[in-house]
Formats: sequence, structure tokens, C-alpha cells
Amino acid sequence: MPLISDPNLIVGIESAEDAGVYKLREDLAIVQTLDFFTPIVDDPYTFGQVAAANSLSDVYAMGGKPIVAMNIICFPIQKMDISILQEILKGGLQKLREAGVLLVGGHSVEDNELKYGLSVTGTVHPEKVVTNKGARIGDKLILTKPLGTGIINTAVKGGLADERSTAQSIECMITLNKKAAELMMEMEVHACTDITGFGLLGHACEMIEGEDVGMLIYSSAVPVLPGTEEFAAMGLIPGGTIRNRDFRLPMIERAAEISDERLLILFDAQTSGGLLISVPEQKASVLLKRLHQEGVNGAAIIGEVLEQPKGKIMIR
Ligand code: CO
Ligand code: CO
Repeated sequence: MPLISDPNLIVGIESAEDAGVYKLREDLAIVQTLDFFTPIVDDPYTFGQVAAANSLSDVYAMGGKPIVAMNIICFPIQKMDISILQEILKGGLQKLREAGVLLVGGHSVEDNELKYGLSVTGTVHPEKVVTNKGARIGDKLILTKPLGTGIINTAVKGGLADERSTAQSIECMITLNKKAAELMMEMEVHACTDITGFGLLGHACEMIEGEDVGMLIYSSAVPVLPGTEEFAAMGLIPGGTIRNRDFRLPMIERAAEISDERLLILFDAQTSGGLLISVPEQKASVLLKRLHQEGVNGAAIIGEVLEQPKGKIMIR
């Protein structure tokens, strides 16, 4: 597309970022994002919660504070009861309230397939924008939620998931990245993105692409939801997860002990996943401690940024 450059545009569409950022004043920029998708859980209220948590996440990933949001709804009114839509919207609204975000409108169309999400607008100080680029050699990588929601959702669809895995996967998806983002913004971090459809390694690849750095991921330190490993061993892998791996495989160097299943888990397509934060080494343990103190229990240091191999991710 022919793009128009603007001196006030801080983050545009060129950089595969989580959200757009536009400077309004020297001390104020707006962060804008939009996300919607088909249901990934059966319960409509829960789906609303997941969709809202997911839509808000891109603002948090930029270091922004979400302020207002609008609903986007595609609904098959001819074949689905309107009460389903009401439940979805209630679930979404509950998450917006938790986030302190105002719903200011929305738009709905009739569609054969149900879809829901939100457009979210937030604010950030123009000098405090955190992008997915900027990770520096020596940084530690903190992941704030466990992996596995894609694999567990596949098991749920196949009727193979147990109650504990299902419940923890839902809890993970409806958890806002608000607290994690606020704690991140209390200290100087170098880069951040949220883990969604490309999986941990796909988003990590975006972080180092075109940069002068590489990464090391400590495979055994990466937290995963209960059931993820068993379901992966049973071959319950989403198509998106396999595509993520195939696309990014040239950027991956894995140790011999890393199994095919483990690699797929690290590439698992997440819905409303956690933040991946690149933080200076001397601040990593402080941030991790603060995250745990404030209830972000799944957070862990899962790797580091290295000089070599440039543009590649080693998994050990
Ligand atoms: Co994102
Ligand atoms: Co997005």
C-alpha cells in the first residue's frame, strides 16, 4: 500500500507492531488497536471475556493505558438466539470494567459466522512507547503467562481435555495483561510484545528480525499449562502452530535434547497470551519478584538476548 509518512506517527503499519501510536502533543500519544475472532470457547460469556482481554493486550504490550473501546460484532441473527450475543457482550464488558476502560460504542453486522472483538484506544507518553524492537545484548527475557492454550483448545474441541487443563487454560486467556504492563512500566525495559497467534518463538523471531542480536531460550524454564505436554504428545496440535514452526524454522537452532513436541509447544498459537519482555539483566530479578508479588504467578525468566547467533534463536 502507498503509505503516507507523518512526523507525528511513532509506530505505523510497517513494523508488524502490536498497535499504532500517534503523537498528539510532546507528552501525549494515542495507541490504537483492533482485534476480533471466531469463538475459541463454548461458553458465550467466557468468549466475551477472552476476546476483550485479547483486544486490550496490544495496548498493554506497547506500554500504553487503554481508555476507551468499541465492540465489533458479526452475528448470525437468523440461526442463533440473541441471548448468546447478550452474554458475549456482558463478558466483554466485565473485562473492560476490570481494566478501567469505557465502552463508547460499536458496530454489528449479520454474518453466517459469529465473531467478536474490540477496537481499543489508549494513551502513552511518546518517549515511553515500548515496541517489539530494541532488545539489547545481555537482556533477560520474561514471559508473564504459561503457554499451551492453542494445544489445549484443540484437545477441548476433540473432547479430550480434562477439567483442570480446560479451566486453567480459560483462566490464562481471560487474565488481563494490565498488572504485568504496569509493573513493566515501573522500570526501564527495552522491548515488549504480547504472545498471540505466532506463538512464543514466532513473536520472539519478530523481536530479533532485522536487529543485530540473537536469543537463547531456556526450554525447561518456559512455563506451560497442565495437560499441554500430554496433548502435544497425542498429536493435538493446531494447524496454526505447525505453520508457525514451518515458517520460522530457518531462524531456530535447537539442541539435540529438544523434542519435536517441545518445539511445537514453544511455537503454539496462543489466544490472549502473556507479555514477552526484554529487560536489562540487573533489573530482571526485581521485575520478576514484583510480578509474583502482584499476582502474575506464571511469570518466569525464560531466556536472554545474545550477540550470537545474530538473527537466530537457540533453544536449549
Ligand atoms: Co500483539
Ligand atoms: Co493483534
